[in-house]
Amino acid sequence: MQETIQKKGRDPVTTSLLQQLSALTGQAFAALDLDPSYGKVVVSQRRELGQFQCNGALAAAKQAKQDPRKIAKEVVEKLEEFGIFAKLELAGPGFINMRLTDDFLVGHINDLTDDESFCCRTGHTPEKVIVDFGGPNVAKAMHVGHLRATIIGECLRRLRAFMGDEVISDVHFGDWGLPMGLLIKEIELDKPELDYFKEDYTGPYSEASPVTVEELQVLYPAASARSKEDPAFLEAARSATFDLQNGRAGYRALWQHMRDISINETKTDFDLLGAHFTEWKGEADTNDHIPVMLSRLEKEGYSEISDGAVVVQVAEETDKKDMPPLILQKSDGAVMYGTTDLATIEMREHDHSPNSILYVVDARQSLHFEQVFRAARKCNSINADCHLEHVGFGTVNGTDGKPLKTRDGGVVRLRALITDAIQEARKVIEEAGLADRFDAAELDDITEKVGIAAIKYADLSNQRMSNYAFDLERFTKFEGRTGPYQMYAAVRIKSMLRKAAEQKLSDGKLLATEEAERNLMLALAALPEAVQAALSKNTPNVLCDHVYALTQEFNGFYHDCQVLGEENQEIKASRLRLCAITLRQIELVLNILGIEVPERM
Ligand code: ARG
Repeated sequence: MQETIQKKGRDPVTTSLLQQLSALTGQAFAALDLDPSYGKVVVSQRRELGQFQCNGALAAAKQAKQDPRKIAKEVVEKLEEFGIFAKLELAGPGFINMRLTDDFLVGHINDLTDDESFCCRTGHTPEKVIVDFGGPNVAKAMHVGHLRATIIGECLRRLRAFMGDEVISDVHFGDWGLPMGLLIKEIELDKPELDYFKEDYTGPYSEASPVTVEELQVLYPAASARSKEDPAFLEAARSATFDLQNGRAGYRALWQHMRDISINETKTDFDLLGAHFTEWKGEADTNDHIPVMLSRLEKEGYSEISDGAVVVQVAEETDKKDMPPLILQKSDGAVMYGTTDLATIEMREHDHSPNSILYVVDARQSLHFEQVFRAARKCNSINADCHLEHVGFGTVNGTDGKPLKTRDGGVVRLRALITDAIQEARKVIEEAGLADRFDAAELDDITEKVGIAAIKYADLSNQRMSNYAFDLERFTKFEGRTGPYQMYAAVRIKSMLRKAAEQKLSDGKLLATEEAERNLMLALAALPEAVQAALSKNTPNVLCDHVYALTQEFNGFYHDCQVLGEENQEIKASRLRLCAITLRQIELVLNILGIEVPERM
């Protein structure tokens, strides 16, 4: 690398800027017989001192029992040879402050922008990834608990797709088990005359569903309550579940109706949130595989009988917490949530042989996933290299800090949250006096985009595992760390570039003439790091931070530097190019976050 740097003045972009600088500084340490890892370069906390800094000399000195300043000085001398630093300064007990030459910086940005992914894909080996997210349930309207699963899951899906991974996204519908039996019996109480309940009748059944989604949402809580008071009803529901799973025609036909109308209902929510699924599978899809799996596990000695139930022991010696066995089949023959999840893993292995499976599900299900993953490994249900991860998340609270509830203590519907956000967005847009510039259709489109951006950015910008308060007033502000603000920054650049096009201006060679331009370039150069961090830990908040830093830096640039008003034609052309690059990157990141930018607003 040193050779190419010396010859060409800089490295072809094979790694991110921080990695490149760290590698070079590492070489300088290595030349002193010190470990190259001391060469780690970070972004400077105090920009007036330098753009970057390396503090490794201190630790290196301790290790080598030498004077840190002496080491730092020798590192600096070595670094000077590379010819990419405009300033290298030794500070304090042995810190090295660094500033790049404009040539190097501009060249780096040119290289980044030549690449469709801003070099984020460099060094990434494409994988086959399954993202299991959304996870709605039959007969239960999607609620606040599904908001985060959908927003985070879709973001991770987009991030993987952007990286060039092959992504399979499965909604994994909750469509099996006792709730289905409860619903069947509840409907029977209401309409016993229907064909679905006649034991010897095998069809044809009516094409239309005997119940509506709205009815289902009343029927389910009613059935659930009834089963708690009436043991005979519960028993009947259990046996209906069993019959359903064993293929009783009328029950299957009724179940299919319930599943279809419920799925249809969730599609509206998923469309509003821009979520995309390649598979609309569910727990029920495992029905035929479960007996096959159970018999293999028994034959190969992985399962055992415990208190009449079929279980897989998953406790390990090193466990600090209690790790109960995974129950696969209860004594009455019923299969469990863990059974369908384990069977799903086997089917995914068979169909796709994935490199990773990510489950974007509420953090409170962590024990369940731990048990399922351990069972999958123990029973060879999945290839040994496959990475299984529960990507958990915290809860959405009200502004009072308690879990979000409706006024009468009920579950908040996902749809209500979305429509509230869009309404709040409209209010903000109207209050800002922006509304009358658009006809009704465009205004609707803009308010929808702003409302969705508000809840998505608010959700994604939190640390994934933390809880957060659902505060629409804060989320929809057109300033600071909000979705609408990031979006607005992009719209402003778009409108400026439109004006430039009207004036027949074209962009030109990138130059660094003002500090604000350099700072903006440095912000642009940080994308590969942000993407890498988001990818390795499944943390979209890093991308939110990146886009925020970028829009902040753009504001600084726009404040300090004339663009359309600049007299010098070369500088004007360069600034137009910088604006176009910034817009491209903001839109790219917002797109990964699932935020759409309107043409104007
Ligand atoms: N339906 C479940 C729920 O509402 C989420 C399903 C998550 N995915 C899975 N493979 N278990 O909590």
